Amino acid sequence: MPTLLTQLRQRFHQALGAAFGPEFATFDPLLVPASQPKFGDYQSNVALSLGKHLGRAPVQVADQILHYLALDDLCYPPQIAGPGFINLTWQPVCLGRQLQALQGDARLGVPQISEPIRVVVDFSSPNIAKEMHVGHLRSTILGDCLARVLEFQGQGVLRLNHVGDWGTQFGMLITYLRQVVQPNNLEELELGDLVEFYRAAKARFDSDPVFQQLCRQAVVDLQSGDPPSRAAWEFLCRKSRQEFEHLYEQLGVALLERGESFYNSMLSGVVADLAQAGLLVEDQGARCVILEDFVNKEGKPQVLIVQKSDGGYNYATTDLAALRYRIEQDRAQRLLYVTDAGQATHFAQVFQVARRAGWVPPGVELVHVPFGLVMGEDGKKFRTRSGDTVRLQSLLDEAKARAHADLTERLATSGRAETPEFCTSVATRVGIAAIKYADLSQNRLSNYSFSYDKMLSLQGNTAPYLLYAYVRIQGIYRRGGEQLTAAVVNLEQETELLLGKHLVQFPDVLEEVARDLFPNRLCQYLFDLSQKFNKFYETCPVLVQEEEERASRLALCNLTAATLKLGLELLGIPVLERL
Ligand code: ARG
Repeated sequence: MPTLLTQLRQRFHQALGAAFGPEFATFDPLLVPASQPKFGDYQSNVALSLGKHLGRAPVQVADQILHYLALDDLCYPPQIAGPGFINLTWQPVCLGRQLQALQGDARLGVPQISEPIRVVVDFSSPNIAKEMHVGHLRSTILGDCLARVLEFQGQGVLRLNHVGDWGTQFGMLITYLRQVVQPNNLEELELGDLVEFYRAAKARFDSDPVFQQLCRQAVVDLQSGDPPSRAAWEFLCRKSRQEFEHLYEQLGVALLERGESFYNSMLSGVVADLAQAGLLVEDQGARCVILEDFVNKEGKPQVLIVQKSDGGYNYATTDLAALRYRIEQDRAQRLLYVTDAGQATHFAQVFQVARRAGWVPPGVELVHVPFGLVMGEDGKKFRTRSGDTVRLQSLLDEAKARAHADLTERLATSGRAETPEFCTSVATRVGIAAIKYADLSQNRLSNYSFSYDKMLSLQGNTAPYLLYAYVRIQGIYRRGGEQLTAAVVNLEQETELLLGKHLVQFPDVLEEVARDLFPNRLCQYLFDLSQKFNKFYETCPVLVQEEEERASRLALCNLTAATLKLGLELLGIPVLERL
């Protein structure tokens, strides 16, 4: 069943075609939400743009459109306002009909894409043996949400973890492993904290020139496939992977690991093909591409180095190889890269070179999906009290511990008794949900400050608030409300009408998220939904005697709960039946 907005759009297409000729039947009706409730629900701005196009007064154009616009079953008679806006207001019966149909629909009106495309979502992507920091956490949470929304639409999503598992740091790590740890049997070695290990190796590297020399040799050995070096590298990757996987498991995030090393054998081909395309120049022994529209401080065109003078390749070369592989082998038509905003230049340059090399067929979309920094509550970079980078595991643990303390207190004040297992499981899920939601509910482009108190609060736009809203509705069923499947919905009270209007927008919001890639849009929608539900619930008793009224109001509860559940799931947050 098409959404109401889709139906409205179709009616405009018909009217535009009938009024101005078939070539106008595909003209965008420019439907946007009304700027104020008194103007209705939506407005069409098409008469203004069409007026310009046709050289006629927009009000006249609007008049002509109305003449052909058949909307009786959807809206009240449209009103022309101001310079030629067409104001539209849903008829309550039409909303009721739509809400009745939605009750039997597990997809809540969200259409299944008829011609799915392959979408690559490149996200999380931490670096082996290095710190997995809050930036990677943001990427993991945002990327997972976008992947979920696209998957739900029916797109063929490939969730790729472009792990940093190659590069000069391995010379240092392998040498340190050999020299200091001297393993007889790698498998028996307990590395403990890999990040500590990295720090120690780096400290030696910075202070010991002999060690540095050995490290350089180790890189060469590793790249030439020397078996012991290879084994040491594999060991380090495996250890790191275990740590990452433990985090992903707690976060409920699935990813396919395809790290930088996967593209090793393709790097020389990338450089050769760039040369073939006539894009390569040499600059002091390095091979590079002169970029368009990027200038350095002296006003000279910037270059993108794809092979260093020592023959080594870099981050950009690997990304060029990966991009090509994803388009040619994976057949991806949309490539999303979820990283911090600091990498915007890197991606703009890589995309430009790939396009100029002819590797991006028309219709293939390359998108960097940037996000801002995580700050401490003091507005400075997020750090522990001692000034260290915050470890992701301790961050999750702290959120869980605080959620546990909140729960224990709540149980004590309300005199409720629950098993320890129940408390641990609820606290774990609420803690993780709070962290995820705090991240997703911000406009990703801005920096946000990390505050346990705010994210765990029961008030405001938080995960606990939404989880509670869901649980409260479940309580209605426990008190005797029946689960209905096709109840007739009458939107008589103002609060019912506002809730109904909001409920039917869910598919349109998902479409927006899939297009613009801003999960906070979905968060805001769900938050508004719970607030509208609360107003309805305060003013309209649900478990009343009168049968039709009871069924209609239960249906609104039902749909609200289903929308909250599905919406939260798409954010990567499973609901709880009891809190
Ligand atoms: N490993 C990189 C980092 O930690 C992120 C990789 C993002 N993906 C990519 N294809 N470059 O910054």
